[in-house]
Amino acid sequence: AHLLVGVKVSHHKLSLVLLDFEGEQLAAKECDLPAPVNAPEALADAIRDAVAHLATTAGRRAEEISGVGVGIAGIVEATDGFVHWSPSLSVRNVDLGALLTRTLGTPCFIDNDANLVAVAEQTFGLGREHKDFLVVTIESGVGLGMVIGGALYRGTRGCGAEFGHTKVQLNGALCRCGQRGCLEAYVADYALLREATLVSGLPPTGDPGTRIETLLDAARTGDATARSILDRAGQIFAMGLANLVNIFDPELIILAGEQMQLDHLYADAVIEAMRKSIVQVDKPPPEVVVHKWGDLMWARGAAAYALEQVSELALDR
Ligand code: BGC
Ligand code: NA
Ligand code: ZN
Repeated sequence: AHLLVGVKVSHHKLSLVLLDFEGEQLAAKECDLPAPVNAPEALADAIRDAVAHLATTAGRRAEEISGVGVGIAGIVEATDGFVHWSPSLSVRNVDLGALLTRTLGTPCFIDNDANLVAVAEQTFGLGREHKDFLVVTIESGVGLGMVIGGALYRGTRGCGAEFGHTKVQLNGALCRCGQRGCLEAYVADYALLREATLVSGLPPTGDPGTRIETLLDAARTGDATARSILDRAGQIFAMGLANLVNIFDPELIILAGEQMQLDHLYADAVIEAMRKSIVQVDKPPPEVVVHKWGDLMWARGAAAYALEQVSELALDR
């Protein structure tokens, strides 16, 4: 039997799914990475061990796996799995595709994490009914996957669809990419936490995941500071979305990621502000859908990408 694995790499954890060639999910697993694993070799070892463990829990052998798809944040050239830069890696210019293929002894295919959410939507989700749609993710960074005319658009150097690093402010806040004034430096988790020092009950340091949960909870229970932080971030995010609409005019925008859990405090306001500021015509604005799928959906997109690549390799032979 031929099996596929999809992996999403996050700062502190790996999310994995095991699929058969029909897309049926046979097993899923999330595991913490010991400390942030930033060295490429350490990350490759962790992925190898997690994949082997996933196969075992499903009663299968690692040798049955025909391909592994991996989604990681940053500038990735999907053609050869070369990572120019990733917030999840301690060094730039990593031949991650080759390193993983060597370490796992199985063909591995790498792409940008948000691109693979778009692949998941194309394969298993709303994207099955749409040829022009955008998936925007907002969590520890801001990601974008663009499907135009039915095909995923990546750009020529792997630098395309980097919505998080579009500019919203001259000489603005420092972004994790090293530049200033990027959208995500105002709306991603780390941007909210930078503003959140005055929110009562929020620990000044510690695990960002826990702290962002605390911030969102504070907003839920009416903390005025937490709400105004989300408010402002939401307005800036809406501006970015309006720019996307004014450039691409897609049929559908899918919003995903943690902050989207706060429908009435965040997502609804973002969507409304976006609709008000786009070019106005006598037709309804693009449909916007909020998806609350967790990281396993990202991993399913990675597995679907592996299937596509494995099938292409077979055709080439
Ligand atoms: C990265 C993107 C990524 C997004 C979500 C951004 O900081 O530049 O490549 O898709 O975060 O993880
Ligand atoms: Na992308
Ligand atoms: Zn940036």
